[in-house]
Amino acid sequence: MNHWTSWRSFALIAGVAFAAAACSSVPEWTSQSIKESAAPIVEKDGKQVQIRYNEGPYSPYADTNWSKYRTLSYKESIPAPPVVKVEMPKDIKGDVAKGKKLFESRAKAPCTGCHVVRDDIWPMGDVGPSLVKFGDKKFKDEFVYQMIYDMRSINKDSFMPPWGASGAFTPEEIVHLVAYVQSQKGPPVKRKDPNIDPATRYVSEGFGDNLDPTNNPAIAMSEATAAKMWKKAGPNGKTCDSCHAGGAAKMTGVAAKWPRFVKTYNRVMAIEDFLGPHAKDTMGENIIPAQGNDNIHTTTAIKMASTGMAQNIDMSSPEMKEALERGKTSFYNRVGQRNHACADCHTEERGGGKFLGGRKLPLLAMPMNLHFPTYRTNFAKIWDMRKRFQWCTLPLGMNFIPGDSIEYAELELYLASFAQGKPLRAPGLGH
Ligand code: HEC
Ligand code: HEC
Ligand code: HEC
Repeated sequence: MNHWTSWRSFALIAGVAFAAAACSSVPEWTSQSIKESAAPIVEKDGKQVQIRYNEGPYSPYADTNWSKYRTLSYKESIPAPPVVKVEMPKDIKGDVAKGKKLFESRAKAPCTGCHVVRDDIWPMGDVGPSLVKFGDKKFKDEFVYQMIYDMRSINKDSFMPPWGASGAFTPEEIVHLVAYVQSQKGPPVKRKDPNIDPATRYVSEGFGDNLDPTNNPAIAMSEATAAKMWKKAGPNGKTCDSCHAGGAAKMTGVAAKWPRFVKTYNRVMAIEDFLGPHAKDTMGENIIPAQGNDNIHTTTAIKMASTGMAQNIDMSSPEMKEALERGKTSFYNRVGQRNHACADCHTEERGGGKFLGGRKLPLLAMPMNLHFPTYRTNFAKIWDMRKRFQWCTLPLGMNFIPGDSIEYAELELYLASFAQGKPLRAPGLGH
């Protein structure tokens, strides 16, 4: 039996609302973003799927509907998965080779994202402890089974996903994983290639100066799109230029004050969120929906007009203070099949700064917002922070919430709160 599923049905039948109490004061918002960002659930070949961005080398779970797992929506009613204690099945014999396959399986976890083992597997990360001598600890198999099934029953603050309790692995698969991790023992491991081990790995230096227009294609792309958008008329004949003469480049200092509370829409917004409804109200139509290229490029051009200026968001109003609190709560809120929070990968106390597989995890304190929107070389596209947020939650087994949702705006505000007084430097440049 899958404990989580049964608990969930119980919670739903009982009508238990687990949404945070603070949420009652959050205004309603209907997404005005492009369809892929609003991500409706539709039926395809007799299956419910979620429509998401059609770009890049999307992994196998590209349109998987994860609706049985918690999201970051303020209306979420699915409870956090309860901690589960189980017994190891007695009738299955653990198989080291099968366990190794599961341990490496990209479709499943992979465990190698966070743990180093004796085999030369690429890429291994070091978010969790090294397992190269795990077998030498001589833990009982039953105990190790419980660890993998749901580590929270041993360490209540553990952020290792509850692999069994979430249904990500079956009991039989966990028995094989136990056999594999128990096989990790012996003398210190000597690696031929130092890059295999995160401790001795070469750390990539990045892509050069992001503000050099010959280096970062996003600069010319945004300037061109913004120039086009500034002249594009809405149904009422008005253009951005009718009211903001001189183009995006004239909006000096504007971006340094966002995200902010916008009275007209009764919510916190980033520039991306604001442009669509603002165009609708001033020009008669939302000609620039959130997460569309026109929107992201125009936002980038508006931000470029504040390059080098210090971020200066006015956090003093009660609305902003409440939003910041909710944003912080979201940052620590565990969601998805993995039961992960942003904080698990982006704070120093947890995985932040370490390697998740071959990728170095950015830290909240860096800060993480000032170079957004950012050009991604692997997609040859500019992404705003919301696409990045949505992307980060996908491997967690969480359905998208709309990119222009209040939840994400307030989460972005929390990230931005670490950047006050620091200079804006969009567009970023990265992979
Ligand atoms: C997101 C990172 C992450 C992933 C992925 C991950 N782990 Fe872990 N794991 C951890 C962390 C962090 C710990 C430290 C223990 C804690 O959190 O209490 C840990 C601890 C462990 C331990 C105990 C180690 C010790 O020395 O006590 C085992 C065994 C283990 N993990 C196995 C696995 C297996 C098997 C998988 C794949 C199904 C896996 N882990 C995937 C993060 C991860
Ligand atoms: C009919 C006039 C009108 C049109 C058309 C118009 N705007 Fe505005 N815009 C305004 C006014 C007035 C404000 C100030 C509103 C406020 O602060 O709430 C504003 C505010 C803004 C801001 C925020 C400025 C700040 O200081 O924070 C941005 C960014 C912006 N507009 C961009 C655009 C873009 C891009 C377009 C075209 C897609 C556009 N506007 C079309 C009138 C207009
Ligand atoms: C399982 C780990 C994991 C979780 C959980 C996670 N992220 Fe990420 N995040 C990553 C990785 C990996 C990267 C990309 C690092 C790189 O550039 O190679 C990243 C990058 C980012 C970036 C871009 C940083 C930069 O410097 O360009 C932002 C912003 C971000 N994450 C926000 C979030 C938010 C908000 C959440 C919670 C909704 C979240 N992440 C949850 C792993 C995670």
